[in-house]
Amino acid sequence: MTTSPPEYLEKNNLSEDGMKLLSILPKEKGWLGSYAYNYQGFWVPQKFLQAVIAFQQQFQAQDSDIILVTTPKSGTTWLKSLLFALVNRVKHPILEPNHPLLIENPHVLVPFLEHTLYFDGRTDDISTFTSPRLLATHVPFASLPKSVQVSKSKLVYLCRNPRDTFISMWHFTNSLLPDHKEADSIEEMFNLFCKGVSLYGPFWNHVLDYWKKSIEKPNKILFLMYEEIKKKPKIQLKRLADFLECPFSIEEENSGVVDDILNMCSFENLSNLEVNRNGKFSTGEAYKVFFRRGEIGDWKNYFTIEMCNKLNHIVEEKFQGSGLKFSYV
Ligand code: A3P
Repeated sequence: MTTSPPEYLEKNNLSEDGMKLLSILPKEKGWLGSYAYNYQGFWVPQKFLQAVIAFQQQFQAQDSDIILVTTPKSGTTWLKSLLFALVNRVKHPILEPNHPLLIENPHVLVPFLEHTLYFDGRTDDISTFTSPRLLATHVPFASLPKSVQVSKSKLVYLCRNPRDTFISMWHFTNSLLPDHKEADSIEEMFNLFCKGVSLYGPFWNHVLDYWKKSIEKPNKILFLMYEEIKKKPKIQLKRLADFLECPFSIEEENSGVVDDILNMCSFENLSNLEVNRNGKFSTGEAYKVFFRRGEIGDWKNYFTIEMCNKLNHIVEEKFQGSGLKFSYV
């Protein structure tokens, strides 16, 4: 287990109330080289607790908001780019040479609420953002601010099979450690993941809550899966456009706009752009850590039979009767 998290993960802007809260919340040493706290039933890194609370207390949803919700490492960066391209396709035609997605990272164009807009005591006036506001969060459904739940804002939820999610998360957190030193061992992190201790986890609670809500409220929440977008990208992008009430016209379909969006947002294209190869957040992390392989099935290069059996057992038990099935290939 690492003992020296990078500054980005250590910095901690907790108020007095936040410090009091920390002293009573259950905690585990784990992901991201520092403690994770069990807040309202989910695990949040110490670093982001204050921002999650600020988001809950201060955010006022607007009816036109589009909020992307994901389990970390399920393809958020990809879906942010697809959402941005789709919703802004009149203002920014896909083939324009200076399309914002060609010169800016998707996380800048579709910012995280708790990781960016409410992070570290920031007080951006987000009420003035151009409508529809495109925003993102990892917070579980039950912990979303009330205004998100009661407004007509739309939630787009993305998840990915737990094996690839785990492997991607393990690589990601290790890649944030300085010089990749003192990397967390896969066994240790896997045991934590199985115990439910993962970023914004337990994974199964996060996914199941949104899955059930998407069935109850199909006009409010669209449930997407990484593997389905990979396998049938056109169908899933059209589903997304229909859900957001900006369907593709026949003319657009005939002129190839759907393919143009998919090509622009492909792993190959985005990961090779100068901005994503060499750009950085103001906090110092490189954009390139969000682009690794972008495939289904990398788990096969890491999982032992025991790991498969252990996770299968948990997934079968947790998702039994839900109707939700993951694809691993
Ligand atoms: P891998 O680590 O398996 O390669 P997130 O954006 O939620 O942090 O998820 C990151 C994962 O999505 C990484 O998976 C990353 O490579 C993959 N990814 C990023 N951009 C992608 C794209 N345009 N298409 C498909 N996968 C993408």
